[in-house]
Amino acid sequence: MMNTIKHKLAGLKSELAYRVALSNHAPNLPILEEKYARIVKTLRTEGACLTSLEELELASSDDLLRASEQYLATMTAPQLNGAGYKLPQIYTVTQIPEFSRWANEQRLINIIENYIGLPVAFQGVHLRKDFPNENQFGTSLWHKDSEDRRIIKAFVYLHDVETEHGPFEYVPRNLTKLYNLNYYKTYYQLWRSGYLGIEDKTLDSIIPKNAWKSCPGQAGTIVLADTKAILHHGTARSLERSALFCVYTANPPKNPQDCTQYWDDTFAKPKQIELAETIR
Ligand SMILES: [Fe+2]
Repeated sequence: MMNTIKHKLAGLKSELAYRVALSNHAPNLPILEEKYARIVKTLRTEGACLTSLEELELASSDDLLRASEQYLATMTAPQLNGAGYKLPQIYTVTQIPEFSRWANEQRLINIIENYIGLPVAFQGVHLRKDFPNENQFGTSLWHKDSEDRRIIKAFVYLHDVETEHGPFEYVPRNLTKLYNLNYYKTYYQLWRSGYLGIEDKTLDSIIPKNAWKSCPGQAGTIVLADTKAILHHGTARSLERSALFCVYTANPPKNPQDCTQYWDDTFAKPKQIELAETIR
């Protein structure tokens, strides 16, 4: 009992400190051009926003694409898990300059800082290939992420992603916000699943499918999403999908133990290769 009270008080203290830090940092947020301010506005209302390499105009985008293409080519056939599902192939590429330089481009950090409201910590980047599977499992189940109070994940599509490639899909944040009945219903289902995630048919019974937002896009599309705020998943696919997942939190994040996977040995780190020049 005493421990529970202590735990609750520590939680309240930490939330209060967080609110104070947000308010103290507000005057220091970088100024954004109107077209980038719209991204932050959409993230606040919707929980996700589509942009592109073209719109962001980052100097290192060509290097990023060149590196992605060449490291993807070194990925081998997918492994199967115990249930026979094809596991995603994930490379941690945080340590490779072409990826970390792009992920730390000032314009991108400025947009993210305006959304997060605090100095940003770039946690890392995964290069990831997802495969077709019969049933939903892993990140194809509906879930919310846990690294921090506000998280931004930048998903960069490395080829045209259409319905059959299993685009990122989410439930707009106003449909599951706190004090909304759906918030409790979906949390109950997440709890019942052991926080592994909810299947389409279960979510459909709470929030009908026609309210879900799918994010197909051409190569170079970037989905920015607060994956803590919104229920999300990768849709079932019949074709492979390759993308980069760049992860940002406040510095420090609320749950640093959930961030280590972006730089430690949880996933394979490819040997650094001498990149060949490619003509685009
Ligand atoms: Fe997620």
